[in-house]
Amino acid sequence: AFPQQVRIVEVGPRDGLQNEPGPIIPTETKVSLIDRLAAAGIPHIEAASFVSPKWVPQMGDAAAVMAGINRRSGVTYSALTPNVKGLEAAIAANVPEVAVFSAASEAFTQKNINCSIAESLERFRPLIEQAQHAGIRVRGYVSTVLGCPYQGEIDPAQVAAVSRELIDMGCYEVSLGDTIGTGTPLKAKKMLEVVSKEVSMDRLAAHFHDTYGQALANLYAVLEEGIAVIDSSTAGLGGCPYAKGASGNVATEDVLYLLQGLGIETGIDLQAVVNTGHWITRELGRHNGSKVALALGEC
Ligand code: HMG
Ligand code: MG
Repeated sequence: AFPQQVRIVEVGPRDGLQNEPGPIIPTETKVSLIDRLAAAGIPHIEAASFVSPKWVPQMGDAAAVMAGINRRSGVTYSALTPNVKGLEAAIAANVPEVAVFSAASEAFTQKNINCSIAESLERFRPLIEQAQHAGIRVRGYVSTVLGCPYQGEIDPAQVAAVSRELIDMGCYEVSLGDTIGTGTPLKAKKMLEVVSKEVSMDRLAAHFHDTYGQALANLYAVLEEGIAVIDSSTAGLGGCPYAKGASGNVATEDVLYLLQGLGIETGIDLQAVVNTGHWITRELGRHNGSKVALALGEC
């Protein structure tokens, strides 16, 4: 059965912008994007990434972004942290929630964070302990859950094992990433059936990319299974620097339209998100990846 309510986690300011080619996006543009999304009623915004600026130059101003935003009560602002160094920087920037990220594929983990899956999990253990000590919630990501750019097919049992490990270590939720967007609905459903035997459905989120145009169909499939948290990106911004060919995350506008049609509540003002998507794509000189945004236009 479909959930009555869905929580949207907006990842555009992080997943969307981290991969943007060309000049570094000004901090004030990032800040304005986050503030506009919060004003539209989005309850959770992944705002920045405390990773190595050599690896991901676009996220090098994470501390300035966190200092610049106008924090609204009721909105969760989170940031990616790959290691304790990132966590310490996030704590100094007063970030209330962080996210750690591993993958179901060895090859992808190696390219993305320069270590094995087992090493990545060992790296997260002290990070999660330290975060919990500081009263900071930790979300977990598992990438390449429906396919890997280097390894190809992914065994759902591997997704389940890594997800379970992240939950056992203290993550409150695990977000399942179809990083390269190769998944299809039946595959998504079958993967979720296996994972939800290890981690209960109310602690799982869907993080789907739209590279092959399947993201909405895949979301429909997992919503039907009971997923009630969806990661999405305004205007479909983004991709992943280490996932060849990955286009953006599913567009927030398109997800909101789908959910409206299903009668599922989000508390978000769709037109305000549409306007924000048109504004940011103009700022970046980029195509708007949301069909709903193109259909509704700016007003
Ligand atoms: P490394 O080179 O193996 O680590 O990188 P290192 O410990 O040798 O550090 C190298 C340099 O980085 C050192 O500086 C460190 O101080 C510095 P140097 O001595 O050379 O001047 N450093 C840092 N600086 C700032 N903040 C930090 C930090 N850590 C080390 N936290 C590392 C390992 C993990 C750091 C690197 O691989 C990294 O930053 N990777 C990030 C990759 C990334 O952000 N990928 C995109 C996010 S994941 C994603 O998009 C998928 C997702 O959306 C879900 C999905 O779609 O599936 C989440
Ligand atoms: Mg992603």
